[in-house]
Order: sequence, then structure tokens, then C-alpha cells
Amino acid sequence: YVIGVDLGTSAVKILLVDQHGDVVQEVSKSYPLLQERAGYSEQNPQDWVDQTMAGLAELMKNFTGQPEEIEGLSFSGQMHGLVLLDDRNEVLRNAILWNDTRTTEECQEIYERVGKERLLEITKNPALEGFTLPKILWVKKQEPDIFAEVNTFVLPKDYVRYRLTGELHMEYSDAAGTLLLDVAEKTWSNEICESLGITREACPPLVESHAEVGTITEEIAEITGLSKRTKVFAGGADNACGAIGSGILEDGKTLVSTGTSGVVLSYEASDEKDFAGKVHYFNHAAPGAFYTMGVTLSAGHSLSWFKDTFAEDISFDELLADVGDVSIGSNGLIFTPYIVGERTPHVDSTIRGSFIGMDGTHKKKHFARAVLEGITFSLNESVEIFRQHGKEIDKIVTIGGGAKNETWLQMQADIFQANIIKLKSEQGPGMGAAMLAAYGCGWFGSLKDCADAFLKEDKVYTPIPENVEKYKGLFKIYQGVYGKTKELN
Ligand code: XUL
Repeated sequence: YVIGVDLGTSAVKILLVDQHGDVVQEVSKSYPLLQERAGYSEQNPQDWVDQTMAGLAELMKNFTGQPEEIEGLSFSGQMHGLVLLDDRNEVLRNAILWNDTRTTEECQEIYERVGKERLLEITKNPALEGFTLPKILWVKKQEPDIFAEVNTFVLPKDYVRYRLTGELHMEYSDAAGTLLLDVAEKTWSNEICESLGITREACPPLVESHAEVGTITEEIAEITGLSKRTKVFAGGADNACGAIGSGILEDGKTLVSTGTSGVVLSYEASDEKDFAGKVHYFNHAAPGAFYTMGVTLSAGHSLSWFKDTFAEDISFDELLADVGDVSIGSNGLIFTPYIVGERTPHVDSTIRGSFIGMDGTHKKKHFARAVLEGITFSLNESVEIFRQHGKEIDKIVTIGGGAKNETWLQMQADIFQANIIKLKSEQGPGMGAAMLAAYGCGWFGSLKDCADAFLKEDKVYTPIPENVEKYKGLFKIYQGVYGKTKELN
């Protein structure tokens, strides 16, 4: 067996997977998001550790085999979050997360000191509020006393892995999202560190995602019931792991993933394509590969916000039960999902979302469908960028919330104008983490072999021409809303 731990934004999901790729146990434990002010998004790293331990302990309690039968464990983690550690590796402040947008000024500072072109050359990405480097600069400026104590920084899953093994590392797929990594060379950039007054010593040692970084400590083995012999592998960024767990391991493969954020992700064999910084360009967790990706900041988050605000007393399934009865376009209602700003294509932390076109006949189901359509339109903006840059996108694997509802699945086929593939066991990042452990343990000669053994297609949704035409018109109207609502803020 292997374990995949997916440290997400709303919860940690832990999968126990056997040699055939079957999920034999699944545990999920949630933790709070701390939003002290608009634009702020933090979490307490201790909550991640506590819930991961609780989840592992629960899983081991129900496991009927011997702990030694679990050969390996690896991670998938929410990207970009800043965890600052002192010289005893104690956490210095709450982690500042990927969807925190307080750092617009710091992004400007990065451009001024490093140069926009140079930054793109080294990191293959522009300076965005969500990335880690601007967060480090924010703490340096706003909390100098804390900054003075910083010995090193890590990303969320690296911290949890450290607590499990006592070893501190970062791996390339997550390091790529810091804006401090030379993505092509796979080294920390001295030039960026020096330009911004960050010591190279603060950057942790880098390893491959499938590298074995240690074993479970005695203390953790005792608390969780895991064996001290279980090997721990570095793991990857959640989007890279989502890609592995969906078989996005060769050219021409595209993924749409709807978690708290939503992404459109495409495999890249090399670092040599040029998207002019319009989509993110990161190291894959598959050795030697890369991926490009557009991000909708609030995908699942828009839906959970809507449910928490207007339909608190019902489940997601109930909320979405009758969206299929509403016609395309939600009877004139349009939603833009910019509730915490937007990344792709607007890179705008101040834009806010909207419902437009309400009339007295609209019911909850119309609003719910409009939310799904708005999220999917936003993702389609990324699909369009890829197509404009010559990518052929005719088949997309979809995972997360978007794979759990029939109406939403068909909607994706119609809006993206591509065949949408739903996998049999659609576990995305957690499965990708488990696959990294399986590969690290030597079960397979490559991640691709592992994907061929573990992943199976379930159903394909094909675009319906009449729906495609309707959505094309609506997408144009959707795209116009951004410019018209920008001045509201
Ligand atoms: C990617 C991003 C999000 C997080 C979600 O750049 O910020 O997709 O990885 O965990």
C-alpha cells in the first residue's frame, strides 16, 4: 500500500491506495481559513499538522493489515503559501496563502528591482500577489521583528512533511511557484535573492518530487500508528499532483480541476514554449517535465460562498439537484466569479464578482446554475489563451467539483468545445501523491506506467452543437462584464 496526503485549502484528504491503484480508504479532515480583512487569507500550520495526524490515526485505526505493509507516503499541497520558520524550525506566524491578495505593492517592487523581462526569463512567470516571494517581502516590510527571526521558509506540505519526518526540504514543482526558482536550471536564483535582500540560506534544499526524504519519526509513528519504516517521498504542488493523478503525463494532455481554485493545465515537455507570462509555467512533479496553467481564483470557492450565504441549510447535492432543469444561460442571469479578485486572464486583485440580469422569476436553482456557468466561462478564458498560442485542446480530463455533477460535465464540453473525460476513480491530487509514493517505492519504471495501471476512463461528454452556439454568445457577454464592473472598486 501507499498513502497520498493532499493538503488542500479547506481540508486534508488522505487516501490509502493498493498496488492496483484502488482507493481502499479515504479520510478527510477540515480546518479553518482565517480571513481577518478583505484580501487576507491565512491558516495556522499547526491546524494542518493536527488534522493530518488525526486523519492518519483514523486511517490506521481502520486498517486491517500490518503497518509495515504501507510502504510509502507522499504529499500534494496547496501551492505558494508562506510558512516562516526560526532557527529551531518553529513557525513564526500564520501561513499567508495562495489566495491572499495583500501584496500588490510588493509585486511592483519585484518588477522594479529585478525587471519584468528578467523575472519572466528566470522564473517563467510574472509577479502575482498569490506567489510566495511577494509575501516574504510583505513580512519583511510590515513585520520586521518577525522577519529578523526568519531562518528559512517552506511551503505548506513541506512543513507538514517536516513534522512527520524531522527533515526539511522543498521540491521543484512547488518551488517553481515561489518566484525564486530558476525554473529551467532548477536552482534557487541568486540574482532574485540578491536583488530583493533575501539570503540564499533561507531557501531550503531542493529535491525531486519522487525523492525519498526520510521515514516517519518515532513520535509520529506512536501517535498515528504508522510504521517507522514507511518511506516518505517529497511530493508535489497540488496542481502538479492533480495532473499526475489524471494522467497528464505527455504532450497534448489537458486537465481542468475545480477545487477551491480552478485550473486549466496543460503538459509541457520542455521549458521552451512562450506564453508571454499569460499562463503560469511551472516544473511538473514528473521528472524533467513542465506544465502551463491558467487559474480561476474562486471556482469551488464561488460555489461554497454561494451555498454558505444563501443556502446554508442544504447540501451541495441538493443545491445542484435541479440546475439541469434550468435552460442554458440561466434565464438571462450571468455570474462572474471574481469574489476575491481574479488571476487568469485579468491579474486583478481588486475586481469583484457580480450577478447580472436578475428578474423576479429567478429562483435559487437559476442562481446556482449561473454560478456553475460563470466558473466555467472563467476557465474557458484560460482554454482560449492556450488555443490562441497554438495548443490543440480537443480532450480534457476533468476532476474535482466539476466532475461530480452531470449538468456541469456537459456544460464543460459545451463551453470548452472539447470532449470532457471523467475518470473512474477521480481523486486528482491525492491520487497523484500516492502515485509519487508508488513510483518512489519502485513499483513502476515511470509515472506514466503507474498512470496506465492506476487510472481508467469512465465516461466521455461530447459538445452538443446547439448548446455550443448558445454558449458562444453568452461567453462574449460574460467577457464584457469585467470591463464594465472594474470601476465599481
Ligand atoms: C495555483 C494556485 C492554486 C493553489 C490551490 O497557482 O494558486 O491553484 O495551488 O491550492
